[in-house]
Amino acid sequence: MAAGHLYVTRDLGPEPMELLRNSGWKLVVHPDRDLPPARAALLDGVRGAAGIITLLTEAMDAELFDCAGPKLQVVSAVSVGTDNIDIEAASRRGITVTNTPDVLTDATADLAMGLLLALNRRIVEADAFLRRGEAWSWGPRLFLGRDLAEEVLGIVGYGRIGEALAKRARAFGMRVVAAGSGSAQNGGVERMPLDQLLATADVLSLHAPLTEQTRHLLGAQQIASMKPDAVIINTARGPLIDENALVEALKAKRIRGAGLDVFEHEPKIHPDLLELDNVVVTPHIGSAGEQTRTRMALLAVKNALAVLNGQDPAHPVNGHQKHCFA
Ligand code: DGY
Repeated sequence: MAAGHLYVTRDLGPEPMELLRNSGWKLVVHPDRDLPPARAALLDGVRGAAGIITLLTEAMDAELFDCAGPKLQVVSAVSVGTDNIDIEAASRRGITVTNTPDVLTDATADLAMGLLLALNRRIVEADAFLRRGEAWSWGPRLFLGRDLAEEVLGIVGYGRIGEALAKRARAFGMRVVAAGSGSAQNGGVERMPLDQLLATADVLSLHAPLTEQTRHLLGAQQIASMKPDAVIINTARGPLIDENALVEALKAKRIRGAGLDVFEHEPKIHPDLLELDNVVVTPHIGSAGEQTRTRMALLAVKNALAVLNGQDPAHPVNGHQKHCFA
């Protein structure tokens, strides 16, 4: 049986692509640099593949694994989140799934801090105000925001990124509390149950992975239990928040604002979010530092090649499993 090819769902940039080209594996790369392959093209591209390097925009599910067939040994995600991959279905077929933790921690925490600053100091609103050309003069009440050093940051999901955000927020003088599981050291961060955190935080930032347990972690009831002048930051996964409930709360000013890098039905965005002054939105760019993205892609390529060459990958998600059909 021929070895099979490596299917890559997007051009990953010069350095990672060169590593792939020099790997000796036959490559099939989805030709569009900006948009993911349509499902039919994806199923076609993976047919007979030994490995797939995927972005978070492609669903890697049982149908796709069956379509790829028995040569498939590895699905390597260019992301830390693997909620687009059916891990159980992969494990049942002996397919190793890998991801890219650590290398994007600082970049993602930077963006969360940026959204926090933008909301608390109303930077985007103030920028839009000036661009409208409205008359203005310095005034004691012009664009009053919130003083960071007097605010409590509540982190939900205290892993690597939550910990990196805590470090940044503490440097700004914020008190930091955290809820939920996570591997991070406490480092001066007070742990508390989620319901207590919701009632305590002035800024709530989500850093939990998306699972069936965390889907709609923030719904109408949880949002209602927050302080009326609290803001929500989400740089993790959109479905952690019930977006309809969030929109209702923002419109009714039951919370002060939201900074969203991710959306429940990405890439679609609830249209009302785009109409609200108290919302800052970015298009899922948490890890979009130039160096970070290269590190992520290189790590994903190395993870894939390790499995294909019979070695242990640096970051297996489901353990390194020998391919049962090999
Ligand atoms: C991830 O890695 O899961 C991010 O959402 C994209 O960098």
